[in-house]
Amino acid sequence: MLAGIAAPLLLACKTNDPQAQPSASTRPRPRPAPPPAPGAGGACAETAANIEGPYYRAGVPERADLTDAGMPGVPLEIAGRVTTSDCTTALANVELDVWQANHSGHYDNDGSMPPGRVLLRGRLRTDADGRYRVKTIVPGRYLNGAQYRPAHVHVKLRAQGHALLTTQLYFPDDPFNEVDPFIHRSLVMAVERKDRLLLARYDFVLRPV
Ligand SMILES: [Fe+2]
Repeated sequence: MLAGIAAPLLLACKTNDPQAQPSASTRPRPRPAPPPAPGAGGACAETAANIEGPYYRAGVPERADLTDAGMPGVPLEIAGRVTTSDCTTALANVELDVWQANHSGHYDNDGSMPPGRVLLRGRLRTDADGRYRVKTIVPGRYLNGAQYRPAHVHVKLRAQGHALLTTQLYFPDDPFNEVDPFIHRSLVMAVERKDRLLLARYDFVLRPV
């Protein structure tokens, strides 16, 4: 399954974002792989937090489809379930605040687009079974200092009676996963390809407060 995912991710960069190609100066340099996060590998564990980064915007539209008509990029659907810390009890009406870069690795507030434009951001809520589904595209990579960050989608989860969770979701087989200083392995989604669409799955576990 994983080998089938690497191709579209790499293809997205080759065709849509030549600047995101690893060059001699940005190619991943070997370094020890990050240790698995507690609970990774199937055990029940609260979802790991991950850095917010500089591009969050509050108060974005409520929508589960983050795309605009004609938007370039590989179509992606991310779906899953949100539970409390027992990994079983569903959490309904959880707000997922999602934001990401476009296919060429740009955010709408990184200075590359007209001010005020809202691109690839949205807030959606889980249903009565704790399920969510968001439609978007595969984000491009962008430089963080001298090195590209692996492709990722940012999420904040707000649930009554639970701690706010700010995290990121990653893609399997991205070569920059192995060198990124921020990634947690437990945040890599399960991804499969269905024709041109990528279907990603991730279940969140929130901490009661
Ligand atoms: Fe980011």
